[in-house]
Amino acid sequence: MRVLVIGSGGREHALLEALSRDDSVTELHAAPGNPGTAVIATNHPVDQTSGDAVADLAEKLAVDLVVIGPEVPLVLGVADAVRARGISAFGPSAAAAQIEGSKAFAKDVMAAAGVRTADSEVVDSPADIDAALDRFGPTWVIKDDGLAAGKGVVVTADRAEARAHAAELLEAGRPALFESFLDGPEVSLFCLVDGTTVVPLLPAQDHKRVGDGDSGPNTGGMGAYSPLPWLLPGAVDEIVETVVKPVAAELVRRGVPFSGLLYAGLAMGADGPAVVEFNCRFGDPETQAVLGLLESPLGAALAATADGTLADLPPLRWRDGAAITVVLAAENYPGTPRKGDLITGADEPGVYHAGTAVDAGGRLVSAGGRVLNVVGVGDDLAAARTDAYAKLERIKLAGSHFRTDIGHQAL
Ligand code: GLY
Repeated sequence: MRVLVIGSGGREHALLEALSRDDSVTELHAAPGNPGTAVIATNHPVDQTSGDAVADLAEKLAVDLVVIGPEVPLVLGVADAVRARGISAFGPSAAAAQIEGSKAFAKDVMAAAGVRTADSEVVDSPADIDAALDRFGPTWVIKDDGLAAGKGVVVTADRAEARAHAAELLEAGRPALFESFLDGPEVSLFCLVDGTTVVPLLPAQDHKRVGDGDSGPNTGGMGAYSPLPWLLPGAVDEIVETVVKPVAAELVRRGVPFSGLLYAGLAMGADGPAVVEFNCRFGDPETQAVLGLLESPLGAALAATADGTLADLPPLRWRDGAAITVVLAAENYPGTPRKGDLITGADEPGVYHAGTAVDAGGRLVSAGGRVLNVVGVGDDLAAARTDAYAKLERIKLAGSHFRTDIGHQAL
């Protein structure tokens, strides 16, 4: 099987690495990829937001499967364009990707499916902010109502901060989504979905704040661990039965069946799981940890999802133990990150490139906010942490920072 992975981050690097372990995968391509993916796949330049450009590349490379990593191409219909050429695509149609692309659509689907989620309200006029602040919070949860790569969310007990974020969004011409605060630890559950068949992966937890102890602003994600030792037995089945299957069935009922990876972000409250958000693709950086434990061939699982034969896929096999991802971020991230600094020590297994480039002198340098994702695997969470942080010790990048407490609370 010849596979093309679309995207350029640590998630795509980890997907390619897991695909490279699948004997049925004979050729791997990435577009645009990154310096890390170039080691295990052939990188190709592409405008990943253009369905025609991606489909042309897939045809030229005669691939059997295109795996679309990020949400933006999915929301723009890149999977539809690939399928229109008769090539299998892993990833939902533009219509089904609205589960992530439009919060209003997601809320409507959840209401129809009877799935618990936060109350919400879209505010599109500065004059309405104060009344909305009175109705919601404290704690206030204020989101960018469009795709914002996780960075458009402010969760705060500080009314002035909440007000400022809402005002900033509106000034930028973006509606602000006010949500009621959902209590309880968060779980990311990724499910392969082909219409109504749902196959969950191992549950994971993301660490969104930049600093240790969940301090500082939200980021695209500073680390993750999997599985979750504190999650009650049966919780994954409960989430699949009460959240993911009803939503998948509702999408089928609306004529927009979901095919790909449906990511349920949940708060595990006293009353059971409630949905914080749905995403239409693998989560980043949880995927890097989850795939570190996968023993089944990933190519076969993605192809079965794309081809609508997920019901025939043998149960997924996982290695015992735990995995964690720690994100190494550039100086000043999540503000404007410093770029162009030399990186050394990054060429070992379990180190995934997220924001790197090769400079004119052929040196590996930083090129983004989240630069590397370092995955540790071990017989338990403590061992996985030891593995990841030992790798981080060997990586040098001036001014970089990382959280030292990924997975720590779960211990
Ligand atoms: N881990 C958060 C996300 O992928 O959106």
